[in-house]
Amino acid sequence: MKLAIGCDHVGFELKTDIITYLELLGHTVQDFGTQSAKRVDYPNYAAAVAEAVVTQKCDLGILICGTGVGISIAANKIKGIRAVVCSEPYSAKLSREHNNTNVLAFGSRVVGIELAKMITKEWLAAEFEGGRHQKRVAMIGQLEVE
Ligand code: RB5
Repeated sequence: MKLAIGCDHVGFELKTDIITYLELLGHTVQDFGTQSAKRVDYPNYAAAVAEAVVTQKCDLGILICGTGVGISIAANKIKGIRAVVCSEPYSAKLSREHNNTNVLAFGSRVVGIELAKMITKEWLAAEFEGGRHQKRVAMIGQLEVE
């Protein structure tokens, strides 16, 4: 898959490790920054990754900040984005299967690299089940236009 990734200064180190892991798994990664631990504003990176996903330049997106909260809230403001913040793999997997999430976020102050890898792997391996979930996901999309 072609994956978009972005982070703020707090997520920078973990982003570097996750990129290495994603490439090991055989994915292509487009890195939208930030590229250092110098303080930045996470909404900018959320927007860049979200745009890459909704315009289909990338298949899915991954975002990292301190908690994963701010950056996922920001990404969810972009029409067509369904971002989930996860600190364990079960919700990550179900968020793909039931909610068709297209952006995964986690917090570098919450999860370590091994847990982050596990979450990422489950999320990427899972597929949207459609069926009864399709209608609900469509209803979420409808909320964006109301
Ligand atoms: C930055 O200090 C911190 O607020 C940010 O990384 C993130 O945790 C926000 O949700």
